[in-house]
Amino acid sequence: MDTVKQSAAGSAVATGLRGVVAASSSIGDVNGEKGELIYQGVSIHDLATKSTFEEVVFLLWNGRLPKRAELEELKASLSASYKLPADIVELIKGISKRVPAKADPMDRLRTVISALAMFDEEANDLSHEASIRVATRLTAQFPTIVAAIDRTRNNLEPVEPKPDLNIAANFLYMMKGEMPDEFDAHVLDVALILQADHELNASTFTARVVAGTLANMYSAVTAAIGALSGPLHGGANTAIMKILLEIDSVDGVENYVKDALSKKKKIMGFGHAVYKTEDPRATHLRRLSQEMGKRKGDTKWYDITAKLEEVMKREKGLLPNVDAYSASTYYMMGIPLDLYTPIFAISRISGWTAHILEQYADNKLIRPRAEYVGPRDVPYVPIDEW
Ligand SMILES: CC(C)(COP(=O)(O)OP(=O)(O)OC[C@H]1O[C@@H](n2cnc3c(N)ncnc32)[C@H](O)[C@@H]1OP(=O)(O)O)[C@@H](O)C(=O)NCCC(=O)NCCS
Repeated sequence: MDTVKQSAAGSAVATGLRGVVAASSSIGDVNGEKGELIYQGVSIHDLATKSTFEEVVFLLWNGRLPKRAELEELKASLSASYKLPADIVELIKGISKRVPAKADPMDRLRTVISALAMFDEEANDLSHEASIRVATRLTAQFPTIVAAIDRTRNNLEPVEPKPDLNIAANFLYMMKGEMPDEFDAHVLDVALILQADHELNASTFTARVVAGTLANMYSAVTAAIGALSGPLHGGANTAIMKILLEIDSVDGVENYVKDALSKKKKIMGFGHAVYKTEDPRATHLRRLSQEMGKRKGDTKWYDITAKLEEVMKREKGLLPNVDAYSASTYYMMGIPLDLYTPIFAISRISGWTAHILEQYADNKLIRPRAEYVGPRDVPYVPIDEW
């Protein structure tokens, strides 16, 4: 699709801002032609196979990989912040008591993060030192909040975080109320690494626009959660799981895709605004989804996704993105469908905060122009003369 159109006034309008370079950043780079992704220069393939989410958080915030002592220090600050202020726990419980049971966890998460700002005395200190501390608290508390949202909406007491667990294992522990399977915790850790940053994606751009007004980090992150929740962005992982459940068998894939495409319906988890070849994150999630299926003794959900990949490539030339195989992977781990996007947020908070830090460090208000296509010289008609 041609994304640059000529305006009536003769200027070029980049619909969806495709191809527009709106910031200089050293955090992450996507090479859509080659299918490459790097965080601060380090390949996602190395990070996905050799690193941990906590190490990636350090990398994103500090521009280089940590030494052992630095990583230990970051892990200690994160685990010291896992626990939520008591009033926030009460707020989460209160929300679960009062809102309709089907209220989306992303709406609840957005509300809780917005409220959290008022409990952080450093929220409006935009210095680098204070902002790193706020980013640490946010990154540490996202999993605690999401797990508490899930438990309280199911009439269960929130589970206190365990400071000796890493972010991935701790989230599964707090959500299920029991120590997680080691492989499940490892897979979630890799999934968090893979989703941590993706350059100027819609939610990160949103965060930078808000930070660019010098609003505090909580405001920027609250807005980013809103942007992530949409089905064209982070919401795609839940949407594709619904599709997999509807298809329910490898044999059903051909007809489902043909029918959907004939009705111009999108198959979530496929296609990408930047990648023109394999999304490197899908490479790892495909492997993990298959491995998870084998370990759980049922590769059905992996098999349906793989067949979907084959048919989508043949019919539309579209390839799987990060969401395609993360859906089946989370499903096999027993994670509720509507927590897939909050898990994306548990990961992406690291990238959002890295970009907010970068924005604060060299700020310029983000204020593009719109091509005006409405009427001009419209006479004012007093209201009683209509
Ligand atoms: C990600 C996405 C928004 C990028 O799209 P884009 O580059 O802006 O391209 P468009 O949405 O304009 O789509 C271009 C064409 O491909 C089709 N297309 C794109 N993704 C498709 C999908 N997942 N299923 C079916 N058709 C799709 C569009 O219908 C359009 O067809 P047309 O030219 O016949 O109208 C798009 O691929 C999409 O909606 N994918 C599904 C949602 C998703 O998985 N999002 C997570 C991204 S990580």
